[in-house]
Amino acid sequence: MFLVIAAAIAVPLVLLKPWDKNNNENNGLSGSESAKPDLITPGTTITPSTDNSAQPNSYTPPLNQPFDYANGTAKMRGVNLGGWLVLEPFITPSLFDPYIMDGVVDEWTLCEHLGPDAARKLLEDHYASWVTEDTFVQIKKLGLNHVRVPIGFWAMGGLVLGEPYVANISWNYLLRAIEWARKHGIRVMVELHGAPGSQNGWNHSGRVGQIRWLNGTDGVLNAQRTLPYLQQMTAFFSGSAYTHVSPVMGILNEPAGFLIGGEAVVNWYKQAVAAIRQATGLGKGPWAVLHDGFLSVDAFSGFKAQTDRLMIDSHLYIMFTEDLMSLNQTAQVKFACQSWGSLATTSTKTFGPTMVGEFSVAVNDCATYLNGINVGARWDGTFGNSAYRHSPDSTCAGKNDASTYTAEYKTFLKQFFLAQIEAFEQGAGWFYWNFKTESNPLWSYFDGVEGGWLPEDANDRGPGYCTSLGYPVNLPSVDESG
Ligand SMILES: *[C@@H]1O[C@H](CO)[C@@H](O)[C@H](O)[C@H]1NC(C)=O
Ligand SMILES: *[C@@H]1O[C@H](CO)[C@@H](O)[C@H](O)[C@H]1NC(C)=O
Ligand SMILES: *[C@@H]1O[C@H](CO)[C@@H](O)[C@H](O)[C@H]1NC(C)=O
Ligand SMILES: *[C@@H]1O[C@H](CO)[C@@H](O)[C@H](O)[C@H]1NC(C)=O
Ligand SMILES: *[C@@H]1O[C@H](CO)[C@@H](O)[C@H](O)[C@H]1NC(C)=O
Repeated sequence: MFLVIAAAIAVPLVLLKPWDKNNNENNGLSGSESAKPDLITPGTTITPSTDNSAQPNSYTPPLNQPFDYANGTAKMRGVNLGGWLVLEPFITPSLFDPYIMDGVVDEWTLCEHLGPDAARKLLEDHYASWVTEDTFVQIKKLGLNHVRVPIGFWAMGGLVLGEPYVANISWNYLLRAIEWARKHGIRVMVELHGAPGSQNGWNHSGRVGQIRWLNGTDGVLNAQRTLPYLQQMTAFFSGSAYTHVSPVMGILNEPAGFLIGGEAVVNWYKQAVAAIRQATGLGKGPWAVLHDGFLSVDAFSGFKAQTDRLMIDSHLYIMFTEDLMSLNQTAQVKFACQSWGSLATTSTKTFGPTMVGEFSVAVNDCATYLNGINVGARWDGTFGNSAYRHSPDSTCAGKNDASTYTAEYKTFLKQFFLAQIEAFEQGAGWFYWNFKTESNPLWSYFDGVEGGWLPEDANDRGPGYCTSLGYPVNLPSVDESG
């Protein structure tokens, strides 16, 4: 490991681009990794290592010591391994582009269109190349200590007739990656990103369109079908082989509480928490993360966060909200420090441990396919029937081409990033969305570091960044209100 890192430092920067999207051929710093995707032979059992002594950096306890999510000084500093075991058109457009003319818009339609054998081949090549051991070498090097890994229910099989997903294959790729994480001291939060029926109708749940989870004819059935998957994940990650490297688990990504109804989602969460605690017993098993379902933290007041070791997760973005996107840069930085800082502080006080499982520095929605395939952007006035346009002459041209970013723009992006993470560290920490993308640099942590708008070491900063800008995160009025 030391050799790899030493070699990495000695290589000129140009070669240090394992995150380069077109660089699957040479995906490793050391060049020791094979050029072709390293497929896992069917039937292989991934044996977990018993060595949990790795420590990613001096700010983070080694894996075999507890990470105190509730009261510790160490914060979760991480990236999402998105677009990997659950596909997302805006992260890897290359997997979708050849089939868009055929109506492919998500993983469901991709699998349906290709059929089981071709879908499996395409997906398996992708699983074996999008994340490699080098991904974890980089993550450690950048001062990070956690990854959040989205999976779909289909990773665990149990498909019903008509569900075209590739079953089971991704699970072994997940387990192999967990061993790389273990070797480099990175903790892994696996989270269910796609539930049967789709909990939000978005492409990243696997299937775009109607919500068939707690909604519609099969809604209750699909919500119930979700519970055994969570029990299976809990039982698996609470075993002695995984408890150190995977001490925290996400129950469900972004159930659309605002469409399905908050009460229904919260009631389902109560069943889910009961189901997973039943699998291990109270006080045992991984920390469980509840995404807020776009509801206020007050909706979760019925949960005993501390005794059940629950955490709440908010995803905070500005580019999907016209009011926030239209603020000027100064106001956006101030908003991150103060509004998101007080959100993290208040939620920690009223609920308990609070994390931000997704955020980015994107200040426009120009990323290719971000809003779905070929549906346009708010920024240039081409999205849906929204009347919003950022300014009369705003255009998306160049917005996804980092070579056009000016030094001033990069300075702003870095400020916006540092402001956000300081705000989020008023809670338990953060996960950038995403570790990399094929062609949308504002959404790629690796591109940001390479381009100079994200820090080379996430720990290398003093406290009080927001204060130094004149926007202290913990306003007295917020402190008193808890
Ligand atoms: C964290 O601190 C709170 C308040 O002091 C306490 O109730 C709780 O048990 C602690 N949680 C953990 C996981 O240690
Ligand atoms: C997936 O794995 C499950 C559980 O191990 C098994 O029951 C099922 O038959 C597998 N499905 C496929 C399509 O291989
Ligand atoms: C597709 O995913 C992106 C990225 O998360 C999301 O912003 C968008 O709303 C989704 N589009 C559709 C049509 O589901
Ligand atoms: C909920 O289900 C109904 C009935 O199937 C469907 O018409 C509706 O579009 C669904 N709602 C959402 C938000 O998907
Ligand atoms: C940015 O917006 C804020 C709030 O609307 C305003 O007070 C400030 O003058 C603006 N700054 C610039 C540089 O335009």
